[in-house]
Amino acid sequence: MEQQSKGQWGSNFGFLMAAVGSAVGLGNLWGFPYKMGNNGGFAFLIIYLVLVAFVGVVVTLAELSLGRKSGMGVVGAYESISKKYSFVGWFGWISPMLILGFYSMLGGYCIKYAIANLGDLFNASWGVNGAESATYFSTFYGDQIQTSVMSLIFVLLTILIVKGGVSGGIEKFSKFAMPALFFMLLIVIIRSVTLDGAGAGLSFMFKPNFEVFKGTGWISVLASAGGQMFFSLSLGMGIMITYGSYMRKDENLERNAIIVPMADTTIAIMAGLAVMPAVFAAGLDPAGGPGLLFVTLQTVFQAMGSAGPIFGFLLYALVFIAAITSSISLLETVCAVVMDKRMEKGKTINRTAITWIMGAIVAAEAVFVSLDGLGSNGFIQIFGQGCWLDTFDLVSEGILMPLGALIMSIIFGWIRPGYTDDEISLDAGGFKIEKYFHFCIKFIVPVIMVLVLAGQIDSFFG
Ligand code: PHE
Repeated sequence: MEQQSKGQWGSNFGFLMAAVGSAVGLGNLWGFPYKMGNNGGFAFLIIYLVLVAFVGVVVTLAELSLGRKSGMGVVGAYESISKKYSFVGWFGWISPMLILGFYSMLGGYCIKYAIANLGDLFNASWGVNGAESATYFSTFYGDQIQTSVMSLIFVLLTILIVKGGVSGGIEKFSKFAMPALFFMLLIVIIRSVTLDGAGAGLSFMFKPNFEVFKGTGWISVLASAGGQMFFSLSLGMGIMITYGSYMRKDENLERNAIIVPMADTTIAIMAGLAVMPAVFAAGLDPAGGPGLLFVTLQTVFQAMGSAGPIFGFLLYALVFIAAITSSISLLETVCAVVMDKRMEKGKTINRTAITWIMGAIVAAEAVFVSLDGLGSNGFIQIFGQGCWLDTFDLVSEGILMPLGALIMSIIFGWIRPGYTDDEISLDAGGFKIEKYFHFCIKFIVPVIMVLVLAGQIDSFFG
């Protein structure tokens, strides 16, 4: 189908579901609960909330308004400020491209685990069948054909949604998927917090621990909270710029820029309530990352007896939804730039073709990442990282994302202050948080971004 425009959201609710869908992802489910527990519990939560208020909301508003003002994807949006900022836009094109590579592999793992738990439910041969979780997991990720196929299925599903367009694909899917995710999460939480011994998990997450702030400890807590927040809110890589460009002029930018971070944070805390009590009730040690999701939690479900596979299926299905609503935002961001470039040349855009082509590149990356697996299946290693996933993650989340956001705050705070004020002033009642926005983007965001950048580099190489 040939089109002259990239599309628009059908309703503000649809936009919200898509934007929250992008924000809620693996970062919330396996990152937040663990980082919170390990970095001061309740104290971490307070810092996180303060960062969301002073940095998260402000950067979200900057990105949404830049997107809507320019009507362009991330590259065009920066070029609309000045051609010389083109490179910042390209940062925001490369990052999603790289994140898609490993996100697709992990999304594929979720599909595998949802299916395996379903198999257990029916006592089928394709279930986990009581295999030891760590062994089951390493056998799976060592099986390069199977992981590649699973990743490809995930990429294919992402393509099918994105090619449906902004309102006909992304919005339509998110409007049903996000409420479903929320509902499934509630069920898992109820089960988790009512298990015997669940209290230890709650105290791991919430008990304030001020030890971690001692000496220079607070700097690393701040950097870790900031990095987590950026990734979790899908900031610094053009996602919110792209999604903002599909908003109607009569929609309220400020309100949306507050709701999205609030919803994301709520789901992150809920994820903690779903995961940690169950982990502690089963007498296991909390962990972060893939180990938590695919080893610890699988062990928890196996310990639950006959109801285990039901909760296992629910959890992996909801993580899959969280992952795919994030990956569609990444692919859309990548495709929007290509569509803009076509339009600039006066050509018609063919969303379907562009989505398939960019999707094919992502598919190739996903296969590479899968072939290497998590434990390095013997590929050449780059930048001293343990596996390709980590290398992709280092370049995107570790460097380009905080660097791009730092430059953005300098442009918005110092070089072109007030660049999108006219756009935000279209909000009913005018630009209500104008002074607050200008203050934060000028003085607070850049400082936090420098910390995050330093913290990320340190955590990758430290
Ligand atoms: N926000 C998503 C998460 O929490 C990840 C993501 C990052 C998605 C950047 C899109 C862009 O997992």
